Amino acid sequence: CASLGWAELKACVRACAACALRAGCKQTVFGVGDEQADLLFVGEGPGAEEDERGEPFVGQAGQLLDNMLLAIKLKRGRAVYIGNVVKCRPPGNLTPLPEEIKLCLPYLQRQIQLIRPRVIVALGKTAATALLGRDATLASLRGTVHDCQGIPLIVTYHPAYLLRTPPDKAKAWQDLRL
Ligand code: URA
Repeated sequence: CASLGWAELKACVRACAACALRAGCKQTVFGVGDEQADLLFVGEGPGAEEDERGEPFVGQAGQLLDNMLLAIKLKRGRAVYIGNVVKCRPPGNLTPLPEEIKLCLPYLQRQIQLIRPRVIVALGKTAATALLGRDATLASLRGTVHDCQGIPLIVTYHPAYLLRTPPDKAKAWQDLRL
């Protein structure tokens, strides 16, 4: 899908059955927002609510993400795009398997090429390791600017993790300031 435009890419994702995830979810969740966004936020994969509504980060973690955006004076859809590493909900909210990530990643890579954001924010370890192509701890990846397809990428905690671990919100705030 390396040369597809938005419409073809969306159709391609909608029709995808490359891995087993599609059979277990209601719909694909492509991504949402400004297709010329300055900032691209990347999560792991749709949860139950996202699968229901067809939009990323619309559940509890999404509310926190919206509040994080508000804190840096941004709003979903305005100069911001929100997407995920995998477009289909993994059953039971499990982390997607390496093979599932490998098969789905070209869609995200094409989204990145089409958006050409000024900065990518990887939310959590799954997004960070998928986009950087190497495995490392989240702690070791935070606080520095990485490179993803020639675009600066920073890593921060996944909002679902922050809901479970509120004290780390202060560190996420540091990351957003970066
Ligand atoms: N968690 C994610 O990683 N992505 C979503 O879209 C929702 C929750």
